[in-house]
Amino acid sequence: MNRVDVERGYWDEASRTPPGRLRNEWLCDRSISDEACVGVIAQFLDRAVDLDSPVTLIDLGCGPGRVAVPLADRFPRVIVEGVDSSPGMLARAVAHPRVRYTLGDGRGVPVTGDAVYTMGLLQHVPVDGQLGYVGAAGRAAPVLVAQFIEGEEAEPFSHHIPLNMMVDAASAAGYGRVSVSRGVLHPLWTWMVAWT
Ligand SMILES: C[S@@+](CC[C@H](N)C(=O)[O-])C[C@H]1O[C@@H](n2cnc3c(N)ncnc32)[C@H](O)[C@@H]1O
Repeated sequence: MNRVDVERGYWDEASRTPPGRLRNEWLCDRSISDEACVGVIAQFLDRAVDLDSPVTLIDLGCGPGRVAVPLADRFPRVIVEGVDSSPGMLARAVAHPRVRYTLGDGRGVPVTGDAVYTMGLLQHVPVDGQLGYVGAAGRAAPVLVAQFIEGEEAEPFSHHIPLNMMVDAASAAGYGRVSVSRGVLHPLWTWMVAWT
């Protein structure tokens, strides 16, 4: 079984847990609200995208739409393209008239848009995958907001990455400007905003 199949199997298994456990044990720390996630992502996107205009955002590793749906609700002109590699997660996805869901692997984002955002995904894939995702984001949209965890840890579904590798990948992907914020929403989380 290749790595992509292993990841899909892992997240499909997770998707079979009841809603409360899925939210708190698999999607996001229970102490962090969905609204707070939307607020932070909107604040980072706001540096390079006008969320009051009809823009298309790609949610990479969208899961059941935990962030995509309230984000679309908050910005009535925005369309969200959710991409996730787990059919099980997408089977649980919450329907919304301006959120579309596509089955796909982050290493080759199957849609294009005005910006990509991703949270809760990169720290679960190996470093080469994380770098591949940044490259794929560069082909999909001129703006990237990415949450990841800095460091060297390499466990089967917990992968940290040195900051310079992430910033270099953004530069190689064609993003000319990069800004980094540490400890936002969670003490371990680093956020990179990259735009052309
Ligand atoms: C921790 S969950 C976070 C979901 C969502 N971003 C959120 O914050 O609620 C990670 C998600 O990434 C998805 N995922 C894992 N590997 C992926 C890949 N290679 N390509 C696309 N999505 C992937 C999983 O299926 C899962 O839905």
